[in-house]
Amino acid sequence: AGLRSQFALGFMDPPLPPVSTISVPTVPTDLDWTVNQTALNMHRADIEQFVDAERNISLVRSEVRVGQVMHFDYSEQKYVFPISASLYSLIPEESPFQNKHYNACAVVGSGGILSNSYCGNEIDRADFVFRCNFAPIDKYKSHVGSKTNFTTFNPSVLEKYFNNLQTIYDRARFLGELRRLKGAVLWIPAFSFHGSNMVTRTLTDFFLEHERQFNPKLNLAWPGNVMKHFSDFWKTKGLSPKRLSTGMIVYTLATMFCEEVRLYGFWPYSVAPDHTPLSYHYYDKKGTTFTMKWKQAHQLPEEFNLLQQLHKHGVLKLTVTPCS
Ligand code: CTP
Repeated sequence: AGLRSQFALGFMDPPLPPVSTISVPTVPTDLDWTVNQTALNMHRADIEQFVDAERNISLVRSEVRVGQVMHFDYSEQKYVFPISASLYSLIPEESPFQNKHYNACAVVGSGGILSNSYCGNEIDRADFVFRCNFAPIDKYKSHVGSKTNFTTFNPSVLEKYFNNLQTIYDRARFLGELRRLKGAVLWIPAFSFHGSNMVTRTLTDFFLEHERQFNPKLNLAWPGNVMKHFSDFWKTKGLSPKRLSTGMIVYTLATMFCEEVRLYGFWPYSVAPDHTPLSYHYYDKKGTTFTMKWKQAHQLPEEFNLLQQLHKHGVLKLTVTPCS
């Protein structure tokens, strides 16, 4: 009853300090963490009021048609993207998460806190591993693991890291990385910004060209205009950024399919709990200064505060110290 009343009182609605005054929080104590089934069930029920995870994770063919004009979550209404026959053929017939249920899941954010964490083995022991934005893993396996069952793929990744697939080398490298996914779900939010239109076309052409070379086949998920559902839920907890971070969306989805969710790489601070300096991403080049670019769209410290409260209540487990 005590717990229920904490929820009823909105324990997750702390007054949010302005970002500039936020300092590094006290580290969650991992040692005595246990899942609190009642709190977790209530949290899921809360989310379910806004998010239909199985449906929201991807459009399915029966919901759309060739020529249907899509709009974008974060662009003006005048911007459109008609669904081409190519894109239509890549949309799954049924939700990639239909009737799916996993035991222990790891959600891996890309924070520099994972560098030298030696969390790789622990992450790989999870039954299902969610990752963000196609983050590189090859050179960082001992710290971030290698198992990948789901990764988000913002079309802009193609521009940023694969030179828009302009050369044979970019294409070969991208193909190699996709093959390594071995049937994992690639979650492509193509209808978030109109700016990704051209890249989405390049991406769909590439998938179709190489479709037969994937064994097991690529498991693509194309969320429709669902971001509002996630924002509406988190708004009830006092969070209303311009955009939720990818990590927060992935965590929300994971909660709906997993018995237990463990978070790694979520730490939006420039120093570790022991005050050693950190890069923003675990894969940033040595010497890269911690970026504050996220401030334009996200409220990462406020997100972290909420995750920390959920940790304290046994709803999720945050890991922000080395694993061994
Ligand atoms: N993250 C974090 N602390 C960091 C870096 C990342 O908590 N220092 C989490 C955020 O939830 C972020 C996720 O890890 O969304 C994935 O990181 P990244 O790919 O860097 O996402 P961003 O580039 O920040 O952008 P976006 O969330 O808009 O995709």
